[in-house]
Amino acid sequence: MISVAIDGPAGAGKSTIAKTAASKLGFIYVDTGALYRAVGLQCIRKGINTEDNAAIISVLPETEIKIVFRDGEQRVLLDGSDVSEEIRTEQASMTASKVSSVPEVRAFLLELQRSFAKTDNVIMDGRDIGTVVLPDSKVKIFLTASPEARARRRTAQLEEKGVSADYETILSDIIKRDHNDTHRETAPLKPAADSILLDTTELDLEQSINRIIEIIKENVQ
Ligand code: DC
Repeated sequence: MISVAIDGPAGAGKSTIAKTAASKLGFIYVDTGALYRAVGLQCIRKGINTEDNAAIISVLPETEIKIVFRDGEQRVLLDGSDVSEEIRTEQASMTASKVSSVPEVRAFLLELQRSFAKTDNVIMDGRDIGTVVLPDSKVKIFLTASPEARARRRTAQLEEKGVSADYETILSDIIKRDHNDTHRETAPLKPAADSILLDTTELDLEQSINRIIEIIKENVQ
C-alpha cells in the first residue's frame, strides 16, 4: 500500500488539492481534521467546557466516530449519524482546535487514522500525518502558503458563497490558529524532516494539484 501524507497550516488548500489528486490517482482521500471536528461537535452537544481537559476526556468513552465512503466521498459518523456538514461551522472549527491539543484526544483518534493506510492507497491530510500518524509514508508533503494568500482565498471563498467576510478578521484568525497549531505541546504542526515543502502562494489551484501529482509520481517509483 502507498500512503501520501500531506500536512500544513489551515487554509493552505490541503483538502481541495489532496482530494482532487487522490481522485486522479485512484487513491482514497482521508481528511483527518474532520475527526477532530467530530470530537469538537460532541463536546458542544454535551455542553462541555473546552477549557477543561478532564471534561473533554470524559466524553471520549461514550463517543463513537467512524469514517465511511459514499460515492468515493468521505462522510463522518458521530454516534451513528452523519455529521459531515455540521462539523463545518465556525464553532465546530474553534472547538476542534481546542480539543486537538489534548493528548488523550489525539491518542483516541490515532488507530482509526492508521487503519486506512493498512487497506488502501491513501492520501491523508492533517497536521501530524508525516510526523506521527504515518511516519513511514512513502511521500510526505508540507503544503503551505503565506497567511495573506490564505486569508485572500478564504475571503473570496466566503464571498462566493454569499457570506460576508472581512479580510483583516480572517487574516488575524489564521495567524491565531497557526500559532495554536504550531505551539501546542502534543504533535505540533511542523514539517517532517523528510518532507517536501510545497509553497502555493504563487500557484493557482490547478498548478498546485499538478505539482502535487508530479511530486507523488516522482517519489513512488
Ligand atoms: O484541517 P481542519 O481545519 O479541518 O482541522 C480542524 C482542527 O483539527 C485544526 O485546529 C487542527 C486540528 N487537526 C490536528 O490537530 N491534527 C490533524 N491531523 C488534523 C487536524
